[in-house]
Amino acid sequence: MHNFRRIGVLTSGGDAPGMNAVIRAVTRYALSNGVEVFGIYEGYKGLMSGNMKLFSDHDVSNIINRGGTILYSARSKEFVTEEGLATAIKTCRDNKIDGIVAIGGDGTFRGATDLTVRGLPCIGIPGTIDNDITATDYTIGCDTAMNTTIEMVDRLRDTSESHARCSVVEVMGRNSGYIGLYAGIAVGASAIFVPEFKFDENEVINKLVRSKKYGKRNFIILISEGLGNFGEEFARRVEEKTEIETRFARLAHVVRGGAPSLRDRVIGSEMGVAAVKLLLSGKSNRVVCMRKDKICDEDISYALTLDRMFKGKLKPEELDGYSDEKVAEMRDFCAAKRAEMERVYRMNMDISK
Ligand code: F6P
Repeated sequence: MHNFRRIGVLTSGGDAPGMNAVIRAVTRYALSNGVEVFGIYEGYKGLMSGNMKLFSDHDVSNIINRGGTILYSARSKEFVTEEGLATAIKTCRDNKIDGIVAIGGDGTFRGATDLTVRGLPCIGIPGTIDNDITATDYTIGCDTAMNTTIEMVDRLRDTSESHARCSVVEVMGRNSGYIGLYAGIAVGASAIFVPEFKFDENEVINKLVRSKKYGKRNFIILISEGLGNFGEEFARRVEEKTEIETRFARLAHVVRGGAPSLRDRVIGSEMGVAAVKLLLSGKSNRVVCMRKDKICDEDISYALTLDRMFKGKLKPEELDGYSDEKVAEMRDFCAAKRAEMERVYRMNMDISK
């Protein structure tokens, strides 16, 4: 088994509330097990340039409550080249870094796999507000982002009620409708539009007209950014066809900032410890996951393949290394995940006005 002396921790891709809880847990757990920790700044970019600091317990004090990431983040194009990867590996060799904990989304995990196959053990931790990593039920930051969305939309509801208006609100999530769906239910949205499911906008417009007739004054419609410019255009059509004054609001990066929720701090801490345990027990190329409220782990390459299958991006040859049974298991997993989301989506249709 590998004898770890030093590990590195980095955050990459879009930042997410709760990343600091992970950094703190990784650092504290490693130090208390006799392993030194380099905090690597600006993700893989910092790994290439050697922008890092040997952390003490004190360096991660007073950060669990802070939004963003104290290690900063970046998306590096250079890192994905052969040269970039070689530079990153050299930085690790020169600084005696024996393993990396990489916190981020699917791009971050691809980077972790690339380093692992070049001899540097890596463990991934899902950190993105989008909750769009198929292998895990939860990604750090999503809970805070959804709670912030609720807070913002509740405010919009106050003013919409005063003026008898409709607020069409677009929320982040990249191609995933997870934030839109769950925050939409939580704010009592009249309708939710997400990229995962087909919808009939005329049905929604008719519903608004009916509800207005019965005296409803405010209307909230949640739209996921994955639908492109649909939100802004739909807001215009709502006003035109219903004669309800309508305003469009894009929450954008506002929901990515702010103090992390309890859930993001606690799950972040648990995942940080789990990642260090995996490295110290000689595992690599694993991603820490949460399934049915339990922390577990999965092979990163498998997780990425599963992810592409779920998102309909899989090339047939990517399944070559898997047995028929495994492929069937993957398909069932993806189908169950989609079915659960659809159940929640349809449930909201039955209770929204
Ligand atoms: O992946 C997190 C996320 O906030 C997405 O929801 C959004 O589409 C994207 O990042 C925005 O990226 P950027 O911060 O580069 O504008």
